Amino acid sequence: MFATATPKTNSNEIPSDLFAAINELKKELNAVILAHYYQESDIQDIADYLGDSLGLSQQAANTDAEVIVFAGVHFMAETAKILNPDKLVLLPDLEAGCSLADSCPPKQFKAFKEAHPDHIVISYINCTAEIKALSDIICTSSNAVKIVNQIPKEQPIIFAPDRNLGRYVGEQTGRDLVLWEGSCIVHETFSEKRIVELKIEHPTAEMIAHPECEPPVLRHADYIGSTTALLNHAQASQSDKFIVATEPGIIHQMEKAAPNKLFIPAPGTNNCACNECPYMRLNTLEKLYLAMKNKTPEITLPEDIRTGALKPIQRMLEMS
Ligand code: 13P
Ligand code: SF4
Repeated sequence: MFATATPKTNSNEIPSDLFAAINELKKELNAVILAHYYQESDIQDIADYLGDSLGLSQQAANTDAEVIVFAGVHFMAETAKILNPDKLVLLPDLEAGCSLADSCPPKQFKAFKEAHPDHIVISYINCTAEIKALSDIICTSSNAVKIVNQIPKEQPIIFAPDRNLGRYVGEQTGRDLVLWEGSCIVHETFSEKRIVELKIEHPTAEMIAHPECEPPVLRHADYIGSTTALLNHAQASQSDKFIVATEPGIIHQMEKAAPNKLFIPAPGTNNCACNECPYMRLNTLEKLYLAMKNKTPEITLPEDIRTGALKPIQRMLEMS
């Protein structure tokens, strides 16, 4: 007599109704799905909370869920882990990094900081945990101006790693910030020439832009803000047409919030999809499902780096 083989369960099998399967896993794991606006539309639609980097950090700081599924990029999931060392934090694709975070290597940044010993360090949240641990305060695009304005005028400041946001914050606050020369490949791809052509073609359209864009693009903006601020502005504005200079994933929410308005993604210099963040787009609904089913890939951090990074994040949350 032949022994009956135990049926193999394929842990990478994808169910036909992914939305139902993910909702089931959410209950089973007591999980919350936090997603950024640059994620694909399906992920945005299944998320429990969608937000900009500040909103996502605030949600991560306050959640009662046991598992945090982070549909965003690595530094965002890492921030959730820094705030929740005892929770399981899952990122659907561990390769979902960030060009801006990569543009600030800890060793070089430490030397830069040592060259400016009397400066405090304010770092944009788009950086690694190591850079956060070398910083005094973290900020996001929605609170950077507010945070810099709370620092006494005589206190010199290093602002890292985004030179474009740093320049914009310097202009808004009248402060002479020492900038780290980092940038985001997505927000530096927009073509000033093609935006001007679009403005001529659509004279009533408002140009709205993220402060990670370069100065020649920001110069043409009618409104500048974080992703949440852009979304709120698009809803509140009297205008019914917008040229949107940030990652076009956010247009999904803009169209949901204001279905009668037209949102035109700002084009890049070539006829490419380079205004889409290649890191954000590594996450898919299938990978999100598999991450929940297999409880991996998980974010882990050395405890000394985590505690070092926690302090400046807590300062940000207090100052926001
Ligand atoms: P915010 O959503 O905080 O505006 O940040 C945009 C961004 O580039 C995230 O990587
Ligand atoms: Fe990083 Fe730019 Fe992608 Fe945001 S859009 S995650 S800053 S590479």
